[in-house]
Amino acid sequence: MPSLNKVSLLSAASLVVVAALVGGTPGWKFTTKGHSGILALEAVVVSPTLVLMFDRATDDPLHTADGKVAWGALWNLETNEPTAVKLQTDSFCASGSILSNGTMVSVGGNVPAAEDLWLTNATDGMTALRLFGPCTDPAGVNCTVFEDINTVHLAENRWYPTTIRISDGSLMIIGGTHELTTFYNTDPANTYEFFPSKDGGVPRHSPLLARTVNVNLFPRAFALPDGKVFILANNQSIIYDIENDMETLLPDLPNGQRVSNPFDGTAQLLPLYPPSYTPTILACGGSNKSDVTPISELSSQDPALAQCSRITLTPEGIERGWELDSLPQGRMLPEMIPLPNGQILIINGGQTGYAAYSSVGFRTEAEVGNSNADHPAFTPILYTPWAPLGSRMSQEGLPATDIARMYHSTVSLTPQGNIWLAGSNPNANTTVFPPGVPGYSTEFRVETLDPPYMELPRPILSDVPQKIAFNENFTIGIDIPEGASTSSIQVALVDLGFSTHAFHASARVVFMNSNLSDDGKELTITAPPNNRVYPPGPAYIFVTVADGTLTSQGAHVMVGTGGNPPVADQGVRL
Ligand SMILES: *[C@@H]1O[C@H](CO)[C@@H](O)[C@H](O)[C@H]1NC(C)=O
Ligand SMILES: *[C@@H]1O[C@H](CO)[C@@H](O)[C@H](O)[C@H]1NC(C)=O
Ligand SMILES: *[C@@H]1O[C@H](CO)[C@@H](O)[C@H](O)[C@H]1NC(C)=O
Ligand SMILES: *[C@@H]1O[C@H](CO)[C@@H](O)[C@H](O)[C@H]1NC(C)=O
Ligand SMILES: *[C@@H]1O[C@H](CO)[C@@H](O)[C@H](O)[C@H]1NC(C)=O
Ligand SMILES: *[C@@H]1O[C@H](CO)[C@@H](O)[C@H](O)[C@H]1NC(C)=O
Ligand SMILES: *[C@@H]1O[C@H](CO)[C@@H](O)[C@H](O)[C@H]1NC(C)=O
Ligand SMILES: *[C@@H]1O[C@H](CO)[C@@H](O)[C@H](O)[C@H]1NC(C)=O
Repeated sequence: MPSLNKVSLLSAASLVVVAALVGGTPGWKFTTKGHSGILALEAVVVSPTLVLMFDRATDDPLHTADGKVAWGALWNLETNEPTAVKLQTDSFCASGSILSNGTMVSVGGNVPAAEDLWLTNATDGMTALRLFGPCTDPAGVNCTVFEDINTVHLAENRWYPTTIRISDGSLMIIGGTHELTTFYNTDPANTYEFFPSKDGGVPRHSPLLARTVNVNLFPRAFALPDGKVFILANNQSIIYDIENDMETLLPDLPNGQRVSNPFDGTAQLLPLYPPSYTPTILACGGSNKSDVTPISELSSQDPALAQCSRITLTPEGIERGWELDSLPQGRMLPEMIPLPNGQILIINGGQTGYAAYSSVGFRTEAEVGNSNADHPAFTPILYTPWAPLGSRMSQEGLPATDIARMYHSTVSLTPQGNIWLAGSNPNANTTVFPPGVPGYSTEFRVETLDPPYMELPRPILSDVPQKIAFNENFTIGIDIPEGASTSSIQVALVDLGFSTHAFHASARVVFMNSNLSDDGKELTITAPPNNRVYPPGPAYIFVTVADGTLTSQGAHVMVGTGGNPPVADQGVRL
């Protein structure tokens, strides 16, 4: 804690700290930050200061240097301003993740709407791969998206696919649809493919996806600590062995719970802890409607499911099956953000209806405009994985926002340690409903959800290596606020993930053992044992002290060799 006369020399921000210390502990709060320039339909933190956003190629306000309408932009976390990024192909409802060499790849997309071409000059993005970075300029100067659809592209059209980084640092691309569809998956891409490609570029058939149409868009998938992949589509889940192209069936989600698009609940791999790194999956919300319900019989007012299902992926855990829990209220289109202290934030979405827009039968347009969902969930939920069943969910002390984050909204933990929120657009293009006219307007307001530690003295990390190898010890400097308890220091290696359609792809928290030096100024940390526990690539190290309450800013590191994928196994196998 700085001494008082030092504080008097510091900025207004520090005065808040003093005020907070005098006035008691600050709480969580929402803060509005500015205008995103384009609708943030997809968002990914691409550097310590930048978030890359993608929209449909349509009629966004921001323009690129050539005078065309932009549908890609970088959000600067320091200045709170967007800068247009030139794209060629339409990134509408794409996905993405970051490779082992730090290059972000945006995957798939759509055929641009004819009426928008004069504005955007966009081309067909159904097989697109858009490469960005790594970007080292803090403001993103000269950081561009590379696209050459003739030479770098998917094997198959994919709109609404899922993309995750796997243990060799490549991307696994799961499912999607071949054509524009208004709701259900009517022309499914029931396959997996990889980038860089495997199998000579021939997609692999997925029995799981074939079993789970109509509700198998944006499957929820996680790279497991043994190198296999968990995939959840509709109400069915599997463990997929990439090396042997084999699926192992897991029990269905209970009670007809369905969580993939267009019945968007969400799912998250819970934080992994040494020494066992036992994986547990949490799936929440969505709908229990039959997956063949005629669209005309669905309503924006149908209650979303409050059910959460959790399974531990050990032989005993699978034998026990899914353990049921309940959200404080049903949620459609929520997203889960694993936090550096091991808790999970559940945020965004509505309490009724479905994903997509202008499609379900009973939309009561007079109430919700084009939206298929309604009754925004304005208050986030904190989920504590280690608390006893029945007391894991809490909304106590969490504020309500007044900005609805419905379909096509995004959220991410930032390197600064707060939560960034943007987007929401259940409309075909940018739409503003006049005051008094019901409907969900295109949302350009960016806001943050600030944990209490944003206004308190926090641990400060220094001398963090730029690159860390698996299964090795490394030492960093740390300045711990005076008086903060260090009896339970938590060191988290965090993949901030990629946000699209109520799924935070590749998001991951892996805890690392550490020891504080006797003088309290150095922390010796043991990196994850291998590239299966943390798929090689960029990460942020956050240190939390004071019993889970004071978290540092995240320090950017490259985990593994930083080589181009596919990379060889590294570290030691468990
Ligand atoms: C916006 O969407 C509406 C409804 O689909 C369409 O009629 C209009 O042409 C679109 N405008 C632009 C600029 O894309
Ligand atoms: C439209 O994009 C193509 C490349 O896809 C480019 O060659 C052409 O110059 C662009 N036209 C305009 C009017 O921007
Ligand atoms: C960006 O590119 C221009 C033109 O190549 C160059 O003059 C400038 O120095 C670059 N700026 C940065 C920050 O890299
Ligand atoms: C999962 O959904 C299928 C229909 O898609 C249904 O046949 C099956 O009974 C459901 N499983 C459970 C456990 O509800
Ligand atoms: C869906 O869930 C609701 C709330 O839990 C329950 O009342 C309803 O019976 C369920 N419907 C089906 C078809 O399982
Ligand atoms: C890292 O430190 C731990 C504890 O001191 C030790 O057991 C382990 O062998 C070290 N690992 C390496 C690779 O040096
Ligand atoms: C930290 O100390 C504990 C107990 O002294 C030891 O078991 C552990 O291996 C040490 N870890 C590191 C990274 O030095
Ligand atoms: C990262 O790897 C991909 C796939 O091999 C490659 O296309 C891209 O150019 C690489 N990025 C860098 C910065 O080398």
